[in-house]
Amino acid sequence: MFNASMPMIQIRDLTKTYGKTMAVRGLTFEVPKGQVVGFLGPNGAGKSTTMKILTGYLEATSGSAMIGGIDVAAHPVEARKLLGYLPEDNPLYDDMMVVEYLRYMADLRKIPHASQAPMIANAVRRCGLDSVMGRDVGALSKGYRQRVGLAQAILHDPPLLILDEPTSGLDPNQIVEIRALIKELGREKTILMSTHILPEVQTTCSRVLIINDGKLVADDTPENLVMQDGGAIRVVVAVQGDEGPIEVADVFRLLESIRGVTRVEEADGEYDGGHAFTLRYEREDPRPALFRQVSAARWILLEMHRKEMSLEDTFRRLTME
Ligand SMILES: Nc1ncnc2c1ncn2[C@@H]1O[C@H](COP(=O)(O)OP(=O)(O)O)[C@@H](O)[C@H]1O
Ligand SMILES: [Mg+2]
Repeated sequence: MFNASMPMIQIRDLTKTYGKTMAVRGLTFEVPKGQVVGFLGPNGAGKSTTMKILTGYLEATSGSAMIGGIDVAAHPVEARKLLGYLPEDNPLYDDMMVVEYLRYMADLRKIPHASQAPMIANAVRRCGLDSVMGRDVGALSKGYRQRVGLAQAILHDPPLLILDEPTSGLDPNQIVEIRALIKELGREKTILMSTHILPEVQTTCSRVLIINDGKLVADDTPENLVMQDGGAIRVVVAVQGDEGPIEVADVFRLLESIRGVTRVEEADGEYDGGHAFTLRYEREDPRPALFRQVSAARWILLEMHRKEMSLEDTFRRLTME
């Protein structure tokens, strides 16, 4: 049964095949209590499939999925009590009023009648649905539909939320609102959410899992993932040094020899009497050595500016190979 000392999610060597398609290929990861985890990957990577298995809606081909120490395949009812799920297509009953739909979901969740009213009221308040309770679900905007989807997911106050692309199809204002709501829910719940909006991950998630072609390719904090790819430095060296004109080829050679630099590209044109280059580096920040060596050559460093790589750069590198 539910064991609070176990990780909220444990997936071990999970695989899923649909006919000839192998959607998930030996996925293993754990999510401890309290983390808000971004689950990223290109379309078709296997995110929704993994989430459907975790929530007990789909059977794995092999491997195991556990929620709070409960095996989902063996005890789906018990496991589902611990989680709220917002599926990617957020299926709702369009001809029900919001209040009817939530009561219906409370019945399905087997919430005792006496506790239904306060639990619905709590979900409604948290998801900002008070003003639309009497409206038909089918008449709601996409943003409100997502709120209704989130309200049904948190109805029974589960410790774990599994959200499949909760902000997809929303306009920028709605995205900001839903993101704030998820962030708020993340203060007390464990969350696994898939998304393709990378800045969202940097503001909402404390950890990122990236899958590609059914396999885990990265598992780290958003900050570390960005750091992994190092960065780029824009450098402008004067064309005239203390000892006369400078050959661009000489500058290029010196920049290439600096410790930590992995690539040098010449930027177009001249800038303020200097020549511009872009240096790429991976781990070691080459700026101290760059400054010293350009000075030692008695050249003049007109400009030195660091550009951090973004999570998008890392995502592309990990999923385009
Ligand atoms: N019901 C299904 N039948 C056959 N193939 C499927 C089915 N669902 C998903 N797939 C395939 O499995 C792979 C993973 O899909 P999915 O888990 O939906 O990825 P994601 O959510 O990351 O976009 C894709 O190649 C997809 O076409
Ligand atoms: Mg999907």
